[in-house]
Amino acid sequence: MTAFDGISFRQMGFGDLDRVMEIEREIYDFPWTRGNFGDSIESGYRCIVMERGGFMAGYGVMMDVLDEAHLLNLSVAKNWQGMGMGRKLLENFMGIAKRESLKFFYLEVRLSNSVALKLYESAGFREIAVRPNYYPAATGREAARLMGAEI
Ligand SMILES: CC(C)(COP(=O)(O)OP(=O)(O)OC[C@H]1O[C@@H](n2cnc3c(N)ncnc32)[C@H](O)[C@@H]1OP(=O)(O)O)[C@@H](O)C(=O)NCCC(=O)NCCS
Repeated sequence: MTAFDGISFRQMGFGDLDRVMEIEREIYDFPWTRGNFGDSIESGYRCIVMERGGFMAGYGVMMDVLDEAHLLNLSVAKNWQGMGMGRKLLENFMGIAKRESLKFFYLEVRLSNSVALKLYESAGFREIAVRPNYYPAATGREAARLMGAEI
């Protein structure tokens, strides 16, 4: 058995939102709301659940605009972090973008989020700009690093 046996991806539905919100509150100081996920599903964004052995290990949300993909959310449940699952989830979104012939992939990450930053850099993303005051933070607001990769 490889480390990734049993991983599968599927569309997120409204029935997933109890567990999604549980994970969201567990891993973020400023979680998305249930409404944010509901709106994303209704808007036709690519809302994907990653399962391992039948349990939700993570999820993400990607929006396509013309020939660009924009990753809005990438999340791995606390007990699954650091095991390669985030990379698998990101690769899944990059694979979708490639299949859809999108040309560029964008995402934002908090300046302080060194784990996510390392993941994105190792996946080929580069900094494009810093957006000041982008995220809420305990101390006021925090800047985002806008990152991009050609697909
Ligand atoms: C960021 C996140 C999606 C990464 O997923 P993950 O499953 O924990 O990460 P992976 O095990 O796939 O590791 C991918 C890379 O991240 C980096 N990384 C992972 N855990 C790390 C840690 N504890 N310290 C430093 N770097 C780490 C490494 O570069 C790693 O690659 P490597 O194993 O080849 O060295 C996940 O930790 C998460 O959901 N965090 C909370 C929410 C969040 O910050 N989301 C991103 C918002 S932009």
